[in-house]
Amino acid sequence: MAKKLKVEKPKGKLGILMPGMGAVATTAIAGVIAVNKGLGLPIGSLTQMGRMRVGKRTANNQPLIKDIVPLQSLKNVVFGGWDIFDDTVYESAMHAKVLDESLLKKIKPQLSEIKPMKAVFDHEYVKRLDGKHIKKGKTKMELATALMKDIEKFRKENNCDRLVMVWCGSTEIYIKESEVHQSLASLEKAMEENHPDVPPSMLYAYAAIKMGVPYANGAPNLSCDIPALVELAKKTGTPIAGKDFKTGQTLMKTILAPGLKARVIGIEGWYSTNILGNRDGEVLADPDNFKTKEVSKLGVLEEILEPQLYPELYGDLYHLVRINYYPPRGDNKEGWDNIDIRGWLNYPMQIKVDFLCRDSILAAPLVIDLAIFLDLAKRAGMSGIQEWLSFYLKSPQAPKGVHPIHDIFKQLNKLENTLRHIAGEELITNLGLDYQ
Ligand SMILES: NC(=O)c1ccc[n+]([C@@H]2O[C@H](COP(=O)([O-])OP(=O)(O)OC[C@H]3O[C@@H](n4cnc5c(N)ncnc54)[C@H](O)[C@@H]3O)[C@@H](O)[C@H]2O)c1
Repeated sequence: MAKKLKVEKPKGKLGILMPGMGAVATTAIAGVIAVNKGLGLPIGSLTQMGRMRVGKRTANNQPLIKDIVPLQSLKNVVFGGWDIFDDTVYESAMHAKVLDESLLKKIKPQLSEIKPMKAVFDHEYVKRLDGKHIKKGKTKMELATALMKDIEKFRKENNCDRLVMVWCGSTEIYIKESEVHQSLASLEKAMEENHPDVPPSMLYAYAAIKMGVPYANGAPNLSCDIPALVELAKKTGTPIAGKDFKTGQTLMKTILAPGLKARVIGIEGWYSTNILGNRDGEVLADPDNFKTKEVSKLGVLEEILEPQLYPELYGDLYHLVRINYYPPRGDNKEGWDNIDIRGWLNYPMQIKVDFLCRDSILAAPLVIDLAIFLDLAKRAGMSGIQEWLSFYLKSPQAPKGVHPIHDIFKQLNKLENTLRHIAGEELITNLGLDYQ
């Protein structure tokens, strides 16, 4: 048996803090309350329903993941967060129209108790939104300090043993990694000087990591994906993960593309388009905000297909992604994919995918898994980028000089072996010895 890491069992309450309490965050919160009351199942959540093999194949042992590693129980979590609107979680969930009114009414008292704290927000970074529930501060450093005060106040008032933060806020405009992001010293200087390359999402990430609170980023904004915050995470012993929840269309892409590649089937073109009518769709209708999302979505195929190694199969791949704001659909996104593939002797074929999905229903379990696994990582003494959580992310954060892994099956392998490592179980390599 491999050496077991010393991981403390979770004690007391875990606070899950979310900057941005819109459709995704409220669906996650209401979901946990509903599950705890026996009103639904946490489908889509590996921490709650997933199983994993441990030991030799002959042992036929596939326990629940939560019985292999010591995870925080959902019965003992509390939620908090920030938003630019002062709606309670009940009001915001009603507005988002993801979950049925009848379900929300059953848990109204619990949802109404959760009120967002005043946000750090700047209209310049999300041009389609305006809200009044906003903090004031002379410098970005002052605003980050105010967030740290909020975090400490929340911890005390809710008697939390530990905290995690998951960014569920809007997608900000596209910002490229620049000089100010290269070291902690340059980032802090930029915060004092109100540099435009430091958007609000980066201030939340800074505040969390500075306080040793694990941080995950569910949007494609740079946020914690800069050398300065990786440096801070190492310094404060904080696990981090990002970026952009891997839900609808990209989830399908990272399931299909590895399969086609495994059979060395050529791909000539992949056209992806979406219609989406929620607030996220409205924010993404601004070209500067869409650019951030586009960059996050486009990287996926390149890494999976490795055109440099297979120029005849993927060298000329034409990959296009579009999102159109279409209010009648609300949160029920429709994502179409047309894939032009090539087979034996270059004969063309086509695949069409039409995914009528529910954006926040797919994203909610990812918020919960990221929070629960990041808390585990913290207790296991892991810090910095948690690549094993790439499984949940569209544009996974990877160490400098290393390509992120996008193939969902490779990602799952990494996640499962990391959990086996934490639990002191043998890693599964699928070599002959495994079968004995
Ligand atoms: N739903 C999905 O499948 C999915 C997948 C990948 C990524 N995402 C990303 O997750 C994020 C949330 O999505 P959503 O559908 O809940 O959007 P939403 O618009 O319903 O909610 C986002 C909330 O963030 C708030 N906000 C914006 N800037 C803020 C700030 N600086 N501080 C605090 N609050 C702020 C907004 O007021 C809004 O209430 C978006 O960035 C989206 O792109 C969603």
